[in-house]
Amino acid sequence: MDKIRKCVFPVAGLGTRFLPATKASPKEMLPVVDKPLIQYAVEEAVAAGVETMIFITGRTKRPIEDHFDKAPELERELEERGKKALLQTVAETTPDGIECIFIRQGEALGLGHAVLRAKSVVGDEPFSVILADDLIDAGKQGVLAQMTRLFERHQCSLLGVERVPEDETNKYGVVSPTPFAERLQAVDAIVEKPPVDKAPSNLAVVGRYVLTPRIFDLLERTERGAGNEIQLTDAIAALLKEQQVLAYEFDGRRYDCGSKLGYLEATLAYGLAHPELGDGFRDLLLQTAAELERDAEASAV
Ligand code: G1P
Repeated sequence: MDKIRKCVFPVAGLGTRFLPATKASPKEMLPVVDKPLIQYAVEEAVAAGVETMIFITGRTKRPIEDHFDKAPELERELEERGKKALLQTVAETTPDGIECIFIRQGEALGLGHAVLRAKSVVGDEPFSVILADDLIDAGKQGVLAQMTRLFERHQCSLLGVERVPEDETNKYGVVSPTPFAERLQAVDAIVEKPPVDKAPSNLAVVGRYVLTPRIFDLLERTERGAGNEIQLTDAIAALLKEQQVLAYEFDGRRYDCGSKLGYLEATLAYGLAHPELGDGFRDLLLQTAAELERDAEASAV
């Protein structure tokens, strides 16, 4: 049976919403508490049994390569200073047995174009895609592990979806669903960023995909679509005319770290859940909330 052994991380995006922080460094390196977004994504893939991480990169993305490389000087220094816990943290960034491959996207022509760059490395096997912007807290297992298990059962492409407010469907790929099984819908149609009055449902694709390799042939034929970009969604629309595609309402909480508020929300949640910082951070938040309340009362008088 086919296993999902490879994961593609499209990381060439400019991250304009976080300028100036992203002027010279990748948005995927923005930390949520103490870990960059891309590391959460890679850890999710490792938990799902992925062995090959394929990063589709661009200019200013070199820090991602450095992050997943060994850092012998740093490790030696930490060892000499007896900082065992930190040494382990640094060493764990690049788990043994995991291969990282970096491919330049060249021109930024859209998500579909980015995924197509992975064709020669993925070859003729099913693979996964994670968009690091969509940080999903799903406990130890992670959403990709949930999806790879479903792939093993159903042997078809799967999209991670979540219900979004109806007036936000124009920000996502949106599916037209038919109930299939618990938390699973058969995808009858999919459309990229439909106007809110034209959305087929409020089930939006968030950044998790398991795809059959047929998607590469279809991406090669995909013309520019929404935003004048080559859209992965359009190739999936072609795929579902030939093969089953299932939408999976995953078990987990998503944070849209592509937006500043979503990113702050993630920082709050991960800060509160942090084993060392959680208690102190909670006190800080309670104190801040009390101050805000006092200010609100004072200005109401
Ligand atoms: C991309 C996809 C879109 C998907 C979204 C999830 O859009 O094109 O279909 O719903 O990611 O985050 P982007 O957010 O890159 O514009």
